[in-house]
Order: sequence, then structure tokens, then C-alpha cells
Amino acid sequence: MASISECTFIAIKPDGVQRGLVGEIIKRFEQKGFKLLAMKFMLASEDLLREHYIDLQDQPFYAGLVTYMHSGPLVAMVWEGLNVVKTSRVMLGETNPADSKPGTIRGDFCVQVGKNIIHGSDSVESAETEINLWFTPEELVGYTSCAHQWIYE
Ligand code: RTP
Ligand code: MG
Repeated sequence: MASISECTFIAIKPDGVQRGLVGEIIKRFEQKGFKLLAMKFMLASEDLLREHYIDLQDQPFYAGLVTYMHSGPLVAMVWEGLNVVKTSRVMLGETNPADSKPGTIRGDFCVQVGKNIIHGSDSVESAETEINLWFTPEELVGYTSCAHQWIYE
């Protein structure tokens, strides 16, 4: 059942950080009305990245993907809200920026699949797995958003 407390894992990839798009991307999630629960700026270890993309381990691009994600710092975040997993994927656009519509993050800010600037969980189940992989329970900050009553009926 759809829940206002649904969460997703979003990461601004190293190219998004290097290109100065951190503020722009966070702004879009804030303006949409989603609630930030956790965020960290870090150089992710190759072990963490291999585990994060473990479902793609048989793909020819897997090693290059881990190298790309390890090439610089990234911003890992947890966002909360109604249908946040599915809606975030819509906000991100298609995996290949060439297929992403204008108005989406990948559609507006990048060109090639191997430099597509942002990650978003693809299901509620994978969001839970990814949040547990990247954050400890204590790092998820519980608080009341003053905007809540102006976003939800
Ligand atoms: P993500 O997990 O990063 O949010 O991306 P996604 O769900 O849209 O796509 P996924 O199939 O999970 O692929 C993960 C990332 O691998 C890189 N990729 N490269 N060279 C290629 O053909 C290829 N295909 C995928 C992209 O960085 C993609 O976001
Ligand atoms: Mg994916």
C-alpha cells in the first residue's frame, strides 16, 4: 500500500558532484515536496560500490561502473514521501540520457549512459536494501517537517 513514509536511496554520482550539480539536484527533490532524511558526502569504497551494483555483476560494464563511481566523491541521500521510489525514477529520467525527456535530471544535465550523474533505487525492496547498505539506522534523522500539512491532504 502507498505510504507517506516510503523511502528511496538517491546518490549524486561523482560526475554530478564534479559538475557542480549537487545544489540543483537537491533543489528538485526539495521543491517536489520530498523530505530529506539522511545525507553524506563521501568517497565510496570499491567494496561498497560492488555490493551496491551487485545485481549487475555479470554485465560487461560492471567493472567500469565501479571505477566510475569510485572516481571521486558522491552524495548519498535518503528521501521520504508518497510514491517516492517511482516518482524519483521519473524525475531522474531514463538510464540512457539520450532517451531522457527534457525536464528530467538526466534529460537536462547529461549526455551518455556511462556519465549519467545520478542513481535512484528501482523498487521499494531495493531501496530498503540500499538504504541499509549505505546508512546506519542512527543516520536516518526523524523529525517533523513544517511543510507536511501543505503537501499532503
Ligand atoms: P542507477 O542504478 O545508477 O540509478 O541506474 P539505472 O537503474 O537507471 O540503470 P542500471 O541498469 O541499474 O545501471 C546502473 C548504471 O550502470 C551504468 N550503465 N552503463 N554502458 C552501459 O551500457 C551501461 N548501462 C548501464 C549507468 O551508469 C547506469 O546508471
Ligand atoms: Mg539501477
